[in-house]
Amino acid sequence: MRDLTELRAAARAAREHAYAPYSHFSVGAAVETADGRRFTGANVENASYGLTICAERTAVFAAVLAGAPAIAAVAVSGPDGVTTPPCGACRQVLAEFGAPAVPLTYARADGGWSDTTLGDLLPAAFDPAALDGARGIA
Ligand code: THU
Repeated sequence: MRDLTELRAAARAAREHAYAPYSHFSVGAAVETADGRRFTGANVENASYGLTICAERTAVFAAVLAGAPAIAAVAVSGPDGVTTPPCGACRQVLAEFGAPAVPLTYARADGGWSDTTLGDLLPAAFDPAALDGARGIA
């Protein structure tokens, strides 16, 4: 399995860029893309709470905007002492750009990391291939 040490460190560091004045829950994410680049993100909250975007999605969107959408590995870190797996919405977005076997590591309350995959986090995802079945219907 690939060494996720640096990606974890990048996710932790990215927390510094969070804008979380309402929850005070800063999250950082780091995405390694198939071409070997690394992109980071952090949660950005809003006074209209529902418009908040999570760290995972800002990281993925940064990769997409840089022309490197294919995800090879992901790391997520919330505040120290909190276990922070990605929320359901972020799992769906990650599934758009990463295969089920792509590793994801998230920080645990005890200071360690839990290692999983995108497929384990969101089995039977509604992925781009699902739309293929609709071609020719409209
Ligand atoms: N948050 C993330 O950034 N990623 C997650 O996967 C879970 C939640 C953020 C959203 C909000 O700004 C704060 O954490 C509290 O929910």
